[in-house]
Amino acid sequence: MAKKIQLAVVGLGGITRTFINACRSALADEVSIIGAYSSSFERAKLFSEEFNFPYYGLYEDVLTNKQIDAVYVGNNSADHYKTAKLYLSHKIPVLLEKPLTLKYEEAVDLVRIAQENQVLFMEAMKFTFYDGFNDLLKRLENQQYGPIKYLDSLFYTNKSGNRETRHWKKELGGGSLYDLGCYQLAYYVKLYQEPDNIVVNSFEVINEVEVRIDYTLFKNGVPARLSTSFLGSPTGAHYQQFNIHTDDYYINSDNFSQGKSFKVYDHQGRLTYETTPINKPDMAYEIKHFCDLLRTKQIQSNINTFSFSLSIIKIIDRILREIKLL
Ligand SMILES: NC(=O)c1ccc[n+]([C@@H]2O[C@H](COP(=O)([O-])OP(=O)(O)OC[C@H]3O[C@@H](n4cnc5c(N)ncnc54)[C@H](OP(=O)(O)O)[C@@H]3O)[C@@H](O)[C@H]2O)c1
Repeated sequence: MAKKIQLAVVGLGGITRTFINACRSALADEVSIIGAYSSSFERAKLFSEEFNFPYYGLYEDVLTNKQIDAVYVGNNSADHYKTAKLYLSHKIPVLLEKPLTLKYEEAVDLVRIAQENQVLFMEAMKFTFYDGFNDLLKRLENQQYGPIKYLDSLFYTNKSGNRETRHWKKELGGGSLYDLGCYQLAYYVKLYQEPDNIVVNSFEVINEVEVRIDYTLFKNGVPARLSTSFLGSPTGAHYQQFNIHTDDYYINSDNFSQGKSFKVYDHQGRLTYETTPINKPDMAYEIKHFCDLLRTKQIQSNINTFSFSLSIIKIIDRILREIKLL
């Protein structure tokens, strides 16, 4: 059996819990988590009592543990750049949560550091690894449903109940594009790489944080109208749709951020195809891929490539500059 990859987790919040659970339930033969690192010693202690591994109250403590093969960084988005930079510049491979960084130039810098240090660096965007997603992408690329006429997608959640969370705070990297828009843009970038033009239709800002935005991306005249919001939806607290329209087909998912259940309907409304569901915890696929890249000494994923991740943050950066939030 291949040697287990020894990982450290950095930033001990909700998504890191999901990450640890995925490792433990689906990748126990593949991965060991050998340390939990937080900006707060108390939080590290509490968290590690729950999961039972060594804990540390400084991100820098990773640098002195030579047993660590790589780190998973799941801290606040505003801290992604400096945290990933710390590890990559010490040649420690990094799996970094989305959004990669808050600014395009920071993401470019991380890629440069990874390349100069010949060290693995990948964004933790999970659904790009699912068979269903890749099968649908292939069908679209092969023009099985004809050319795309337009795309539209809404991703609304109601985060108004507690405005003390990271979503609302500029200093923590809040904003609906960073939090929700990343997922829509991941699809967009896989289909089109980058738009020729961007038009912002409307947006709302609270305390310097963009909490709702509606914009259209154009590529060769094909529009993609995308909206995100923290302010809820007319139909309830949480609502998401991703729709792809061709002359003869309508392709839809109401759970696209999880990369699940895309359905293809013909012009008479008959269901003609449905993507296969995943059968492991959703983060397990990206973690397995990351471990394989480590074992084969790659510095870049062939799925979540540098170019893929850079394009996503480049589009976000362009939009936020347009509305004067960057
Ligand atoms: N890929 C995905 O599906 C997915 C899903 C959700 C989130 N994310 C991304 O993951 C990152 C973290 O999101 P999250 O939902 O895990 O956020 P979160 O629960 O608010 O945690 C964010 C960070 O805040 C610190 N923290 C945790 N509890 C805290 C508390 N009680 N008081 C103060 N600080 C606390 C932790 O860092 P320290 O321990 O170092 O202080 C933690 O890493 C974001 O960049 C987000 O975009 C990705």
